[in-house]
Amino acid sequence: MAVTLNANHLKGFVMDHELCGIQAQLDAAHRTLHEKTGLGNDYLGWLTLPTDYDKEEFARIKAAAEKIKGDSDILIVIGIGGSYLGARAAIEFLKSPLYNNLKKDTPDIYFAGNSISPAYVNDLLSICEGKDISVNIISKSGTTTEPALAFRIFRDLLEKKYGKEGAKGRIYATTDKARGTLKELSDKEGYETFVIPDDVGGRFSVLTAVGLLPIAVAGCDIDALMAGAKEAQDALCDPDVEKNDCYKYAALRNCLYRKGKAVELLVTYEPCFTMMNEWFKQLFGESEGKDHKGLFPASVTFSTDLHSMGQFIQDGSRVLFETVVKFKTPKSDLFIQPDAANFDGLNFLSNQNMSVVNEKAFEGTILAHTEGGAPNMVLEVGGVNEKELGYLIYFFEKACAISGYLLGVNPFNQPGVEAYKKNMFALLGKPGYEDLQGALLEKLK
Ligand code: PA5
Repeated sequence: MAVTLNANHLKGFVMDHELCGIQAQLDAAHRTLHEKTGLGNDYLGWLTLPTDYDKEEFARIKAAAEKIKGDSDILIVIGIGGSYLGARAAIEFLKSPLYNNLKKDTPDIYFAGNSISPAYVNDLLSICEGKDISVNIISKSGTTTEPALAFRIFRDLLEKKYGKEGAKGRIYATTDKARGTLKELSDKEGYETFVIPDDVGGRFSVLTAVGLLPIAVAGCDIDALMAGAKEAQDALCDPDVEKNDCYKYAALRNCLYRKGKAVELLVTYEPCFTMMNEWFKQLFGESEGKDHKGLFPASVTFSTDLHSMGQFIQDGSRVLFETVVKFKTPKSDLFIQPDAANFDGLNFLSNQNMSVVNEKAFEGTILAHTEGGAPNMVLEVGGVNEKELGYLIYFFEKACAISGYLLGVNPFNQPGVEAYKKNMFALLGKPGYEDLQGALLEKLK
């Protein structure tokens, strides 16, 4: 099991000597990361998480997941950004984007607190009617507006339905070990709590309780997930670009960026990977996009997006490159039967598995897009299972850290996300923001 980088389709876009040229910078980025001497070095807990995680808490996560499976029809997972995307991405990837509609013996899982849309909350409240519910509120700071607002609503629902004491047994809080409003409230109310380690930032936290509890509730094997991540931790330590595909990926995307390819499109041919694309976009966007630098991470799901974005990728501004995540073995397959009448003229597709057609779409597209001037590389993943996912998550996290250091930014902070919050608080009249409110209202006139 591994993630293998196939760079054959980069010929003509990146020369072999360019990789040699960037090796010294890779060595430096590797040392900076492993010697913990770089920007953001307080947030490197994810680097050894697959071996250093809290085993006692891991057992409690599994026990809580069993309890939720036994007493709940629905689990509402409340969180935003890094406290949301990883769990949803893993569940959709490992189970299905149609998870809630499948026949299963695990609860439906819905996500809340990742927008401020009243319509979405109203729909969710109506889905919850007559159902047994548990809530997992996830917030490292414990003060983020979107999840805090959603939690207020769903805590109220649970307390009305089960009473304060009953609700207590159905609310699970994943937050800082000591600080924040959510931690204080959880201690006061007696909710079971799980910890987001101090040295693991939100977007690097999917392999902590942040991701593990919802993923376990969905019936996924979290031991295998951690085992896959550990394999990656062990395997991706050699700074030699020719021996480490994670570093090679970081180096190649950096070479392309320096040639004006400022947009990376993560490409999948599997709808179950669409939310992983979203997780990737947060990981790289929040880590690299600062100091007026960075690749813009975007994504497409093919073949649907070949019928929309395909035109631009083939023929629009030559500012992008594609990174295709490709699975050697599909999760399942479907044999296409011949049809005697052949009215639709599709018998040329029959007597083979549908995955072969998907494979030919991939081959045809990569040839067309590279011909059109869009560089492509392929990350080949063995299959769709927990171990492969654990490996892939760690692969991307490490590639992101190395990429950030190659770029000369702090990959572990996100100062830019504060600007909108300040304005929103001021416009809503939050105490302490009075001066800013006046200035903003003036601008909005
Ligand atoms: O990656 C990050 O740090 C952010 O996306 C956070 O996860 C997000 O803002 C949510 O923060 P919190 O968990 O404190 O509610």
